[in-house]
This record gives sequence, structure tokens and C-alpha cells, in this order.
Amino acid sequence: MFAITAITGRVGGELANTLLDTGKSIRAVVRDKSKGPSWAAKGCEVVVADLEDAESLTEALRGVEGVFILFPPIYDSEPTFPELLPRIDAVRRALIQARPGKVVVLSTIGAEATQPNLLNALGMVEAALADVMLPITFLRAAWFIENAEWDVASARDEGVLHSYLQPLDHEVPMISTVDVGRTAAALLMEHWDGHRIVELEAAERVTPHQMAAAFGRALGRDVRAQVVPREQWEVIFRQQGMRHPTPRMQMIDGFNEGWIDFKDRGAHARKGQVTLDDAITRLIERKG
Ligand SMILES: NC(=O)c1ccc[n+]([C@@H]2O[C@H](COP(=O)([O-])OP(=O)(O)OC[C@H]3O[C@@H](n4cnc5c(N)ncnc54)[C@H](OP(=O)(O)O)[C@@H]3O)[C@@H](O)[C@H]2O)c1
Repeated sequence: MFAITAITGRVGGELANTLLDTGKSIRAVVRDKSKGPSWAAKGCEVVVADLEDAESLTEALRGVEGVFILFPPIYDSEPTFPELLPRIDAVRRALIQARPGKVVVLSTIGAEATQPNLLNALGMVEAALADVMLPITFLRAAWFIENAEWDVASARDEGVLHSYLQPLDHEVPMISTVDVGRTAAALLMEHWDGHRIVELEAAERVTPHQMAAAFGRALGRDVRAQVVPREQWEVIFRQQGMRHPTPRMQMIDGFNEGWIDFKDRGAHARKGQVTLDDAITRLIERKG
């Protein structure tokens, strides 16, 4: 039996379906009871637990061969990530008390970066779990290709991809969430001792120009990438409703300047199977 948190999300859903396809039993950990029945219909045991509640989470993670932990995404946080602290505390306590056989935690490229930026949040997670005496894999995933869901409307309607990643020929390590879920499933079925870090990116790195071309092929129209000037980012992000845009801007700077990257530019990273074209086509089908 494997307990899967965030099973209603992109990565967790793909992970659970992959395990189900290989005949594994799943305990679906949902925070909202109404999201349980679709997983029960697939044969999963369903439990309700919130990542901020150590008590319910301990019961959810007890007695299983392996667990998958995903910390909900944080986009708009103060640089100290105050909302993360109760989640880290609850997960730590639940893992120590429930003692599952092994743990895969979704982390990120750049988790080890010392420069302030949004990805420090998952660095805090890794540090906080460093003394938990269980087999733990921190799966450091590259930039999700599916972050481009925000670009579907402008690509379709204007033929423009407004790119914060720049320059436009800069290769960025990316990965599809489908590959992240499938890799997390594969990791849960492996045996290892102690703690390890697994890096994951697609077979090919992606430039904004290539991303625009993939949108063009999927939409059947010309799509070109266009730089969003750095000096406009803060105003745009605040107009979009962000209250703390700095950590996000620092993160994008890190990708653009190359100080957010895998060790040896991904030489040791596992490689995904999903191509850029497949991921973008799937995204457009989903977003209309
Ligand atoms: N975006 C990137 O480029 C990138 C790259 C590397 C790593 N990551 C990491 O990937 C993760 C996001 O993965 P994703 O895209 O699969 O997420 P997602 O699709 O946005 O799903 C988030 C999941 O978290 C659940 N959740 C939210 N708050 C919760 C709570 N308090 N207690 C329990 N569950 C809760 C949600 O449940 P509901 O359905 O109930 O809302 C949902 O299942 C983040 O940790 C992010 O740092 C992202």
C-alpha cells in the first residue's frame, strides 16, 4: 500500500494512476472529502488529512510501504515563507510517528541555491527533514512545462508567448508533470537506504523560441516568443494580484542567469520521456 498526498493535483494524480496501472494498492490522501469518491471508484482507500494537521496526517501515513509527499505550491509568499512552517512541522511529526517504509518528497531544481528566491522554500523542506531516520528521496524536478498554461490564451489569440525566461535562445531545464508523476511512481517502487537526491529533467532543454514553436505547431498558427522586459515584471505581477513578487522574480533571474540549474547541467539527472510537443498539445487540449 502506498499513501499519496496531493493526489488531486497534476503530479499526484499521474503518480497514483501509474501505480494503479501496475497493480499497486493506493491510499488516496485528500484534504477535501468531496474529492475522494473518484479515487474510491478506482479501488483506492480514501482518507482525509490536511498537510497542516499532524494528527490526521500521521494516521494517513501509518502502516504503508511508501508515501509521496507534495507541498502545495507557493507562488506569492513573504521571503520567509511563513505559511510553509506549519506544513513542514506537521509532515515531520507525521513521518516520525507513522514511520512508513520509504518516502518520496517532491522538491525542485534550485532547492540548494543560497541566493534568496522562491525555491528556497523547498530547500527549507529538505533541511527540515534531514534528520528524519527513514529512507527519503528528494525528487528535484525541473521547471514544469505545464507552467506554460498561463500562455495558452495569448499564444492562441495573439500569436505571442510573453516570456519571462530570457534571452529567448537560453536553454532551460524543463519537465512535464506527467514525467514527474511517473518518475515518482518508479522511485516509490525502488529500494534505497538513507537519504538521496534525484534530479529530473526532459531529454532536451527548452528555449523560449522552441516553446513558442511548439505552441505554433499545436495551434496551427504562427506563435513567436517576445521578451517581457525585466523592469516591467514587478508592475505586471502586482497587477495580476501578487503581493510579494520579489521571490518569484528572483527565481526567474536564477533560471535566466544560470545559477538555478542541476549539478553539471543535468549530467546526472534522470530524463523524462514526454516531448515538448506532446506536453504542449495536452495542455492546449485541457485548457481549450
Ligand atoms: N511549477 C514548477 O515549475 C515546479 C517545479 C518543481 C517543483 N514544483 C513543485 O511541485 C509542487 C506542485 O505540484 P502540482 O503542480 O502537481 O500541484 P497542483 O496540481 O497545484 O496540486 C496541488 C495539490 O496540493 C493539494 N493541497 C493543497 N493544499 C493542501 C493542504 N493544505 N493539505 C493537503 N493537500 C493540499 C491540492 O489539493 P486540492 O485538490 O484539495 O486543492 C492538490 O492536490 C509544488 O511543491 C512545487 O514547488 C513545481
